[in-house]
Amino acid sequence: MLNIAVLVSGGGTNLQAVIDAIDKGTVTDAKITLVISNRTDAYALTRAAKAGIETACIRPKDYFDREEYGRAMTEAIEDAKAELIVLAGFLVVLPGNFVSKYKGRIINIHPSLIPSFCGDGFYGLKVHEKVLERGVKVTGATVHFVDEGTDTGPIIMQKAVYIKNDDTPDILQKRVMEEAEWVILPKVIDAIAHGRVVLKDNKASVIE
Ligand code: GAR
Repeated sequence: MLNIAVLVSGGGTNLQAVIDAIDKGTVTDAKITLVISNRTDAYALTRAAKAGIETACIRPKDYFDREEYGRAMTEAIEDAKAELIVLAGFLVVLPGNFVSKYKGRIINIHPSLIPSFCGDGFYGLKVHEKVLERGVKVTGATVHFVDEGTDTGPIIMQKAVYIKNDDTPDILQKRVMEEAEWVILPKVIDAIAHGRVVLKDNKASVIE
């Protein structure tokens, strides 16, 4: 059984997709043992509580510096016996001590096809605004391992979504979530739970 900690900042629809996939049995041998938010008002915390999952709110501003914040996060992860850390709409840049301790065990979902529309300043709705501004015809979502950079870690899985002429950022965000994010995040978690994700020479591949 793979114990998972999910880190969230907002609505938590990706968290919900994982909870539902575990309930339905499309993700097996995995259990969410803790949901951590940096915001007390994140609706994701309500979703976790409704599903009977333990929650914690750990805010960087409550700590002396980022290292101390990293230590608090590590303590929570260890207490929850989590072996995989899933960033599902988590908008805090994690401290270096935390990322290096859990290298190869942290994954993130990003709402574009990396390396396009990612990096500093590209998060949430802003990504879809930039996609439409640029006029690209295909976007999508990416699940990748987290390293010290922003959205620079090895890519595990991607799914493309076509842009429509009348898309707005909100409409596109919803379609990318439905068609890509809520599909590939549970898939990757199931693959990791069954040892089907291999990391070699800083490249990830999924064994089908
Ligand atoms: C999702 O679209 C996720 O991909 C994005 O924030 C949204 C959170 O929604 N994450 C990023 O932009 C990270 N760079 P949710 O709280 O409903 O899952």
